[in-house]
Amino acid sequence: MVRLSFSLLALCLLLIQVESVTKFVFTGKLVCDKPSFNYHMVLWEKDGSSGDDAMSNQGPKVSHDPHYYKITGEQDGDEVFAFTYEVYMVIVHSCTHPEKPYRKLTVQLGEFPIMDGTNYKSVNITLTDQGELTTDVIGFH
Ligand SMILES: *[C@@H]1O[C@H](CO)[C@@H](O)[C@H](O)[C@H]1NC(C)=O
Repeated sequence: MVRLSFSLLALCLLLIQVESVTKFVFTGKLVCDKPSFNYHMVLWEKDGSSGDDAMSNQGPKVSHDPHYYKITGEQDGDEVFAFTYEVYMVIVHSCTHPEKPYRKLTVQLGEFPIMDGTNYKSVNITLTDQGELTTDVIGFH
């Protein structure tokens, strides 16, 4: 009986582990010298084994001064051998001089524990003319 309940407990812990969903909320300021610009921001999780996973589905945005942003994403615990998620974002933006080509900036956001819950972090990002020149589109139709 003791053994059975121990097995049940272990099974429950395993299920919790497998089904844990880690959420992310990043907020902050995009530092840009233009009164408005367009951008498309995607959160990624660096996954050593199977290629990186996109974690957000936010569409293209117009930013107006003072350029605050918020992006959310989530990842379910499919990385059995990892203890943390390594998160970064890729921003294609038009805070550029001249306006085209756009630039694509990658920003490392840190490592976060794999857990059932939400990680909040405030990160200010300098955008003005930052990132590599890109022919990627921002995605307005
Ligand atoms: C981001 O910028 C805002 C406004 O300039 C400032 O109040 C805040 O402390 C900054 N946050 C971080 C994390 O640097």
